[in-house]
Amino acid sequence: MASILCPKLALLAAICAVLVSLPSRVLATFPFYFQLPLPSGTAGSVDIVFNFQNDGPFTGISDGTVVVFNPLSFGFVQFATVVPNRDQTLCNGKNDPALYIQCGRPVSLGFNQSNYLYIGDANLGLFVVGPNGGLATPLISTVDGLPIGSLFGLDVDPNNELVYFTSFSQIYRLNNLSLAIGSGDRTGRLIRYDPATGTATTLLRNLAGPSGVAVCADSSCVIYVEKLSNTVSKLYLTGPNAGTVTVLLTNVINPDIINRSPSVGTNFFLSENIQPFVQYALRIDVNGNILKNISIDGPYNSVMDVTGVTQFFALDFYFGSLTATFVGKAIFYAL
Ligand SMILES: *[C@@H]1O[C@H](CO)[C@@H](O)[C@H](O)[C@H]1NC(C)=O
Ligand SMILES: *[C@@H]1O[C@H](CO)[C@@H](O)[C@H](O)[C@H]1NC(C)=O
Ligand SMILES: *[C@@H]1O[C@H](CO)[C@@H](O)[C@H](O)[C@H]1NC(C)=O
Repeated sequence: MASILCPKLALLAAICAVLVSLPSRVLATFPFYFQLPLPSGTAGSVDIVFNFQNDGPFTGISDGTVVVFNPLSFGFVQFATVVPNRDQTLCNGKNDPALYIQCGRPVSLGFNQSNYLYIGDANLGLFVVGPNGGLATPLISTVDGLPIGSLFGLDVDPNNELVYFTSFSQIYRLNNLSLAIGSGDRTGRLIRYDPATGTATTLLRNLAGPSGVAVCADSSCVIYVEKLSNTVSKLYLTGPNAGTVTVLLTNVINPDIINRSPSVGTNFFLSENIQPFVQYALRIDVNGNILKNISIDGPYNSVMDVTGVTQFFALDFYFGSLTATFVGKAIFYAL
């Protein structure tokens, strides 16, 4: 199991072997860790993605922009915006929910195979922008007569370009997420957008704060997270069970988004927020077996929440957060 994750190069493999043989208590601290600072004044890199040329990380932040990391300046630079004529002076560098409508608040991201970026905004709906960024094109803001409201999780099926996303709630948004916890709200939806027809379909309704969605590597299912019921479920898309749901996990405390593993397509990563400042990173398989459960601590001891875990190469991981002013990167991380 561990050896599959280890790189082939002898030195790296040696380090890796040591890391994976350590007890999880010791692994709890990051072996090699970097903080990639977000633009001054901003926070909230909830979702972190890479394009199909391995450029990135890209993330949406509190001032309404989608930014991409520039290794030369060791900082993030603006890549895309969602609001036409966005007032740069008013918006840039801000972390103020009162400005989300005027400035935009891109939350979740997903590239298609031509490196077009689908952007889910917390209030304004679904957008797409070309490989060079710029002002994104609005696609939809209502589905089946209801506003999308807070678009939270998003994933693009690499096999057929269908876009899956969650509408967190009809009542609660990103700016009042804390009120949603414990509310019993069940107005969330799982939605599929078909770029070929420009239409969207509600796949599931009455969900408890659906916050994350990831398509199965073979397109046969989607795994989705309900933040308000602490559950992870699987919706079958094809086969004899098509249209039915299996609940995989009922005990993941305050999860957010979920990401498919690029190296092991049948594995998924998510975060568990046991309480503020106490987070775990989980690796699960497509049947909901928990393969890894590691404390996210070290620099994250001073960060209130972790929204998700993105795997880049086998042992490279990035951590998203609604509150952190940086993107965390851990390498040789045995998750
Ligand atoms: C990616 O999305 C763009 C914009 O919707 C579309 O023109 C392009 O064909 C898509 N790429 C693929 C591989 O489907
Ligand atoms: C949450 O915020 C949204 C958008 O600002 C607002 O429309 C809604 O009334 C708020 N909900 C509650 C329960 O405060
Ligand atoms: C992950 O581990 C922590 C610490 O042992 C535990 O509290 C939590 O319940 C575990 N998560 C799951 C989903 O089992």
